[in-house]
Amino acid sequence: MKKGTQMFKSPRGTSDILPKDWQYWNYVISKAENIARFYNYDRIETPVIEDSNLFLKSIGANTDIVEKEMYIFPDHGGDNLSLRAEGTAPVCRAYLQHGLHNSSHPLRLYYISSMFRYDRPQAGRYRQFHQFGIELLGEEDYSADFEIIQIAIKYLETLGLTKLKLLINNIGDLKDRKKYIQDLKKYFENHLDTFNEQDRKRFEKNPLRLLDSKNINFNQFIDIPKSIDYLNAEARLHWENLLEQLDHFEISYTIDHKLVRGLDYYNRTVFEIHPTTDGSQTAIIAGGRYDGLIEQLGGNPTPAIGFATGIERIILNLNENLIHPIKKIQELWMVAYLGINAKTEAIRISDYLRQNKQVAVLGPNRSLKSQMRYASAIKATKVIIIGDKELTDSTIIIKDMETGNQNTMLLSKLTF
Ligand code: HAM
Repeated sequence: MKKGTQMFKSPRGTSDILPKDWQYWNYVISKAENIARFYNYDRIETPVIEDSNLFLKSIGANTDIVEKEMYIFPDHGGDNLSLRAEGTAPVCRAYLQHGLHNSSHPLRLYYISSMFRYDRPQAGRYRQFHQFGIELLGEEDYSADFEIIQIAIKYLETLGLTKLKLLINNIGDLKDRKKYIQDLKKYFENHLDTFNEQDRKRFEKNPLRLLDSKNINFNQFIDIPKSIDYLNAEARLHWENLLEQLDHFEISYTIDHKLVRGLDYYNRTVFEIHPTTDGSQTAIIAGGRYDGLIEQLGGNPTPAIGFATGIERIILNLNENLIHPIKKIQELWMVAYLGINAKTEAIRISDYLRQNKQVAVLGPNRSLKSQMRYASAIKATKVIIIGDKELTDSTIIIKDMETGNQNTMLLSKLTF
């Protein structure tokens, strides 16, 4: 860097995805696309910006995401916009806006998109991150819950991640939850003096989230009311059927009565998948049912369930488990040249190679020696060399960079 010039850096909590990283990204993305294809999920991409109220209404005004983590700004026209904080609400918005609700249900959608949350950056937690998300709209049956959980687990398994723990809970329907929250408040009422300010605020505004608190020592509390004890008959049957199905297919799970999730749109099934190797309790995949969300956004009552996984978090876990995707070995050609006439021919040959599905680059406009150094640096596997003599003879020199062998042959013999 020149002295006195400002060195720009990517904003805190954001990353450049460099060429060396794409081996991992391509691996994680291609496995995501693959599993989505086999379960017949279609891709959807929503804008990076949305009306702020979409998130306020759906995620909930008293959640950490809305209170502390959203990137909110007025645009030049005075509209109040937000960077996409999560994918579920935008998918539901698009579903209603484009009449997807008129298509046959259930509707299966997936996205691979960047998300933005003003979080405290640390390993696996960033301000710009990417999610692979799956949403199954218009199916209330427990088989939908099962499918979503099965995809989540299969996806991680196909990536090679097997040391996993599935945590699951049922937070009931809205009416069940009202009574549950009342009882939860009653239960914690006598302990308020031991809570810090944040938890006291949670007690007032979003008591369910108390169960998520990192500051409360839950060992001292026995018999905290459990949401599954408040389920209406239909929700209970749904829950029992789901667990039975998981048992049947030998998908092991732990019922976590404290699992409530940080977004308000959930009802009934909520789940998270954690790596068992990671002590830090961060979920790689998280999701649940949101049967009320589409109606809340102005649509007809439409049951739905989905999950999302953080791609950066997956890559972190791949590295921790020493899983390194293998880069496909492919021939890389470089066409080197000596002189202006040979350069035109080299451009033509490079193109001929590409037309024959070969990866080819033209040598840089330097001495032959320097072109050869560049070929080694970019790990070219074969180099074609053309000079005046080769031009007049219609020949080429081919150098195999691995063995160092060099042969002259007729250009017309270069076939694939
Ligand atoms: P979420 O729990 O907020 O749920 O995020 C889902 C996943 O995104 C997390 O498990 C994690 O892998 C990743 N993630 C979240 N925040 C960060 C961050 N700051 N940095 C890196 N990765 C992060 C949702 O977003 C819901 N929309 C999931 C869903 C879909 N529910 C139903 N359908």
